[in-house]
Amino acid sequence: MNILGIETSCDETSAAVLLGRRVASNIVSSQRCHTGFGGVVPELASREHERMIVSIVDSAVTEANITKNDLDCIAATAGPGLIGAVMVGLCFAEGMAFALGIPFVPVNHIEAHMFSAFIPESPGHRSPEGAFISLTVSGGHTLLSVVQEDLSYAVIGKTLDDAAGEAFDKTGKMLGLAYPAGPVIDRLAAGGDRHFHEFPRALTSSSQRSRSYKGNFDFSFSGLKTSVLTYLQKHPEEYIRTHLQDIAASVQHAIVSVLVEKTMAAARHYRVGAVSVAGGVSANSALRKAMQEACMRSGIQLYLPGTVYSTDNAAMIASLAGLMHEKGLIGKNRYDVAPFSSFGDRTRKASLK
Ligand code: KG4
Ligand code: ZN
Repeated sequence: MNILGIETSCDETSAAVLLGRRVASNIVSSQRCHTGFGGVVPELASREHERMIVSIVDSAVTEANITKNDLDCIAATAGPGLIGAVMVGLCFAEGMAFALGIPFVPVNHIEAHMFSAFIPESPGHRSPEGAFISLTVSGGHTLLSVVQEDLSYAVIGKTLDDAAGEAFDKTGKMLGLAYPAGPVIDRLAAGGDRHFHEFPRALTSSSQRSRSYKGNFDFSFSGLKTSVLTYLQKHPEEYIRTHLQDIAASVQHAIVSVLVEKTMAAARHYRVGAVSVAGGVSANSALRKAMQEACMRSGIQLYLPGTVYSTDNAAMIASLAGLMHEKGLIGKNRYDVAPFSSFGDRTRKASLK
């Protein structure tokens, strides 16, 4: 199968070609037009995707050393995401597939993150073997799921307020850092003391609600945001500037500790031998290191995508379409799939063993 994947759910215009089990190209263009707004402006995102989509798709096909006629199918993100942004890639992909007379495969962006550790060419690539716990942490979602080998899954925990990526971006904004602040905090934290200040870890064994914690796999990061705001209000600007790296390291440590603790607790609770961490926040170096250490200690297999496949990319869209094809999960072909904005619309329930 030669698959073209297209991804436009937020502020990355991306196209990738998978030739059989090989990622032959994966072009990602990150939009710069949002700088200064402190976040993604939906209308600007859609217009920028429209401006870029033809050249990005052309580059992906050219870099893969094929022509469009060599493609067997086209897959694109159908949601969740900014609806106008999703529509650009989705309509483009459907139109192109229709014109070429090949099937179109709609892909759920969050599911594509969930299976991104299985992209061919990811370090130590292999297909899922047995059930695993998936921690999916992006700018808009924080989910813990039990995933079965047949690609079905059940969400066992989600954020009650902000996503982990939002926790990085919003606390970073308070610290005067550019959007997206996740990678900036990651870099700053490398030179700071993570024990400099203890920020709150909601719904964990160390939090005040520890009694209600057992078996609670939900997350909450809005208290961390408030806590950082209060901390900044209490300390002079000069002090904050001097200790920026320490504060960044402490904020990062609070987020990472919660993510690791909940994921490992879920692996124990559901007695699975493998864990996967994916989505933009899985590029975080402290999270990767902490998950590697925790899994090593517990004898649990860790699936991590390569960092290029952590943040939004089209290789994960093409790859999931390939996995779905392998497992016989591709439905009747249609060129009129509607975009969707919320993840809740598409959850594929798995029976929990
Ligand atoms: O998956 P993604 O690229 O887009 C969404 O689907 O949302 O995730 C973007 C999120 C942003 O919140 C960004 O700050 C965060 O991932 N992120 C990071 C790092 N790289 C990206 N957060 C922490 N450390 C990083 N190195
Ligand atoms: Zn994403």
